[in-house]
Amino acid sequence: MHVLALNSSPRGKKGATGRMLTALTTGMARAGARADVQVETVDLAGLSIAPCRACYACWTRTPGVCAVTDDMARVLALYAEADLVVFGTPLYHYTMNATMKLFLDRTLPLVEPWLCENPHAPGVSGHPQRREKPFAALLLSPCGLPEFSHFESLVHYFRFYAGRNGWNWLGEILRHSAEVLSRPDTAARFGWYFALLEQAGAEIIAHGGLLPDTAQTLAQDLFPDGPAAFRERANHYWAVTRKRHGIVDPIVEPMEPGPGVDF
Ligand SMILES: Cc1cc2nc3c(=O)[nH]c(=O)nc-3n(C[C@H](O)[C@H](O)[C@H](O)COP(=O)(O)O)c2cc1C
Repeated sequence: MHVLALNSSPRGKKGATGRMLTALTTGMARAGARADVQVETVDLAGLSIAPCRACYACWTRTPGVCAVTDDMARVLALYAEADLVVFGTPLYHYTMNATMKLFLDRTLPLVEPWLCENPHAPGVSGHPQRREKPFAALLLSPCGLPEFSHFESLVHYFRFYAGRNGWNWLGEILRHSAEVLSRPDTAARFGWYFALLEQAGAEIIAHGGLLPDTAQTLAQDLFPDGPAAFRERANHYWAVTRKRHGIVDPIVEPMEPGPGVDF
């Protein structure tokens, strides 16, 4: 079984997406150690992957092969062979970031030019897929704001795309208030959350999906004192950071670090 974890954050392994993926894939590798499960993580932002040129060479002149020669050829081969793909993207403007979208655009060589009735969406059209392997997938995404509702469009998109492609959709691991997970000092305080992600990874391999209890515990707040307190802490963080650069804000006065988890 091949697991491919894609990370589209420009922060690579050190960002929230990267740290979450590391924990998840550690659990996957642990559970799969005896079952011939191979887990590979690809940091998309660290590669040279140009935008799709829309030349359709992959449908005409060189079927299945992209005209652009860059790092995408290697990632596309891994993607085509994967049994399970984890799409890891930070939430940018309420959707996936540009690097993840660019990756998806460049998967065009995996479909044929022909228009047919989509076997996965009866009554609507689609393109035949070159890859015949069944494919399972899940989404992992952190965001900065302190509510889950910000993920609505992203989740809708991935569920829709999975449906159109006939993927076995395993669900989403979403993390709001996640900026703290991207810095070593603050990420260290959330060992319980990374341990849960490891458990989730192991469950996905062992049970083919997240167990409901784990999914529920993973959705727990990192900052249990609520969004208003979170906003205050975030504003304190930005004000202190800006002050270090010589900017003094008239509206947001830096406050003293309070009880609980500081940014
Ligand atoms: C360009 C940009 C757009 C963003 N848009 C959103 C957004 O729409 N909603 C949100 O809650 N956070 C947003 N964020 C915050 C990131 O989702 C958040 O910091 C995330 O944890 C970053 O993950 P990373 O460390 O893996 O890159 C944005 C950040 C950037 C840089």
